[in-house]
Amino acid sequence: MRSLDGMTDTFTIGGDLEVRRLGFGAMRITGKGIWGPPDDPDEARAVLRRAVELGVNLIDTADSYGPEVSENLIAEALYPYPDGLVIATKGGLRRTGPGQWPRDARPERLKECCEGSLRRLRLERIDLYQLHSPDRAVPLEDSLGALKELQDEGKIRHIGVSNVSLDQLERSRELVDVVTVQNRYNLTDRHSEDVLEACEDAEIGFLPWSPVATGDLARPGGPLDEIAGAHDATPSQVALAWLLARSPVMLPIPGTSTVEHLEENVAARELHLTDAEVDGLGAAIRGRSPA
Ligand SMILES: NC(=O)c1ccc[n+]([C@@H]2O[C@H](COP(=O)([O-])OP(=O)(O)OC[C@H]3O[C@@H](n4cnc5c(N)ncnc54)[C@H](OP(=O)(O)O)[C@@H]3O)[C@@H](O)[C@H]2O)c1
Repeated sequence: MRSLDGMTDTFTIGGDLEVRRLGFGAMRITGKGIWGPPDDPDEARAVLRRAVELGVNLIDTADSYGPEVSENLIAEALYPYPDGLVIATKGGLRRTGPGQWPRDARPERLKECCEGSLRRLRLERIDLYQLHSPDRAVPLEDSLGALKELQDEGKIRHIGVSNVSLDQLERSRELVDVVTVQNRYNLTDRHSEDVLEACEDAEIGFLPWSPVATGDLARPGGPLDEIAGAHDATPSQVALAWLLARSPVMLPIPGTSTVEHLEENVAARELHLTDAEVDGLGAAIRGRSPA
């Protein structure tokens, strides 16, 4: 499907999983601090069902969201899964309390995480399994070696990495076939620009996390506020539309606990910014006037 600005609405992950580029991040359907059940589990399940109804077919989660809560809710709300729904999960972080995320990417732990995700998601094979974060205490070779073994056993279809530097991405690609990268990236945080460019060159999907963060750019009268006003849109929608326009490999996964915000976010698929607006926002982020 091709959108008005010539950018395709879909991306094919790993050469065989075609998804709409705007996905859903299922981290926010848990309790405060991404710990325990959500305040309103019915609303959380409704968000998941509505996402699928609206044509979202890429859902990102992790065993550590809750922990276990997000994956359980996905299965409760959506199993048996509709054809073409790609559930991407991750392993490699432990949870020791609200807001705490110590890394643990030892091979035995990753295998345990994957088995748990398969069980909770009621899947025989996970379409996209991501190393949540490299663990300084464990060689990358060992962590990714475990994922490769899971792939060879048929428990994982594709491997992704998350929170990686350019050097870590390059090393990962020497070890396994990396089909996606998930790093923090949004209008106000573009530290992963070099990683994004490497993904573009290699046609690797890039899942920017924290995609709706806008910070000071959304202040009344600020650049985002002005563009949002011109399109009768919200700053969050402009932030998502900017990401979609930024690269054909960009797969934003905005997260929310409400149907209202979900609908608003998904509608950003229809918001097409002009080249001048895309460039202007890029320049505003770099702290100078648009050229
Ligand atoms: N790999 C990693 O290390 C990592 C780290 C963090 C996140 N992630 C993934 O990335 C996904 C997205 O990241 P994120 O959840 O941190 O950031 P986000 O999607 O940019 O923002 C989510 C926050 O913004 C609010 N929000 C969402 N849509 C909104 C709207 N239209 N208007 C106003 N507020 C809105 C949500 O609150 P409401 O619930 O009130 O809508 C929530 O607090 C996560 O769900 C997770 O799948 C990955």
